[in-house]
Amino acid sequence: APDIPVAAVKAHLDKLQSIANANGGNRAHGQAGYQASVDYLKGKLDAAGFTTSVQEFTSGGAKGYNLVADWPGGAEDATVMAGAHLDSVDAGPGINDNGSGSAGILEVALAVSREHLKPTKHLRFAWWGDEEDGMVGSRHYVDALGADRSKISAYLNFDMIGSPNPGYFVYDDDAKLEKVFKDWFAAKNIATEPETEGDGRSDHASFKDAGIPVGGLFSGADYIKTDAQAKAWGGTAGKAFDACYHRSCDTSKNIDDTALHNHTDAIANAIWQLSS
Ligand code: PHE
Ligand code: ZN
Ligand code: ZN
Ligand code: ZN
Repeated sequence: APDIPVAAVKAHLDKLQSIANANGGNRAHGQAGYQASVDYLKGKLDAAGFTTSVQEFTSGGAKGYNLVADWPGGAEDATVMAGAHLDSVDAGPGINDNGSGSAGILEVALAVSREHLKPTKHLRFAWWGDEEDGMVGSRHYVDALGADRSKISAYLNFDMIGSPNPGYFVYDDDAKLEKVFKDWFAAKNIATEPETEGDGRSDHASFKDAGIPVGGLFSGADYIKTDAQAKAWGGTAGKAFDACYHRSCDTSKNIDDTALHNHTDAIANAIWQLSS
C-alpha cells in the first residue's frame, strides 16, 4: 500500500473545522454543518472516479444521510467495506470524533484512485449519519441491505484515530481482521492493545449484530491513560486519551499528527491486503 500523506488528511480536517465554524460550531445530525460535510466528501470522491450515493433516513424528526462510495470493479459478492461516522455531537466540531476517521478513510479512498488499484474484491467506503444518537445511519444501512449482507466479507470501522494523548487499540472482534492490523503495527514497533472501551459503541456494532466480520482501530476517548500505556506509547499518564471528547474543544488542534498518520497508513495497508 502507498504511504498516505498525513498533510492531506489534515487538510480535510481543516475543511471540516471551517464547515463547523460557518454553521454554528458543529456538524451534527440534522444541522447544516452535517450536510456541508457530506457535500465536501462527495465532491472529492466523485472527482476521483467513485460511484457515490446518498442514502436518506429519518431520525429524531430530522433527515439523516449516509454517503456511500463504490470503487468500480472487483467481486461484489466479497465486498470489503471501510466506514466512519461523519456526524459530530451538538457541542462541537467533532474533529477527532470523528473527522479523524472520516478524513482518514477519505484519503485512503483517494489513494485507491491515484494508484488505479484493481482489487480482486469490490471496495466500498461509507460515511455514516447520526452515529451519535445510537448508530442510527449504519443501522439503517445494514437493515436495508437485506440478504445482500452476506456479500460483505469484512467491515472495518474507524471512530477516533487521532486522539491527542493517543493509544493504539485494535478491535478484537474477528481474529483474522485483528491480525492484519496487529501485524502492521508490530512491524512498525508500535505496541497495540485489544480495543475494549468501544465495544458496541460505534458503527461496527450494526454490522457485527448482522453476522458480518468486523475490525477497526481506535486511539482512545475518555478513558484514562495508565502508567504502563504512557511507557509504551508516550503521552501523559493519568490523563484521558481525548480530554476534549464530545466537547467544544474537539477542534483541529485536538489531534496528534503522528497517531493520525500511523492509523491512516494502517488503514491503507488493511484495505490493500484484504481486497487483493
Ligand atoms: N462511538 C463513540 C462516539 O462516537 C466513540 C467511541 C468509538 C467510543 C470507539 C469507544 C470506541 O462517541
Ligand atoms: Zn503516510
Ligand atoms: Zn462521539
Ligand atoms: Zn465517534
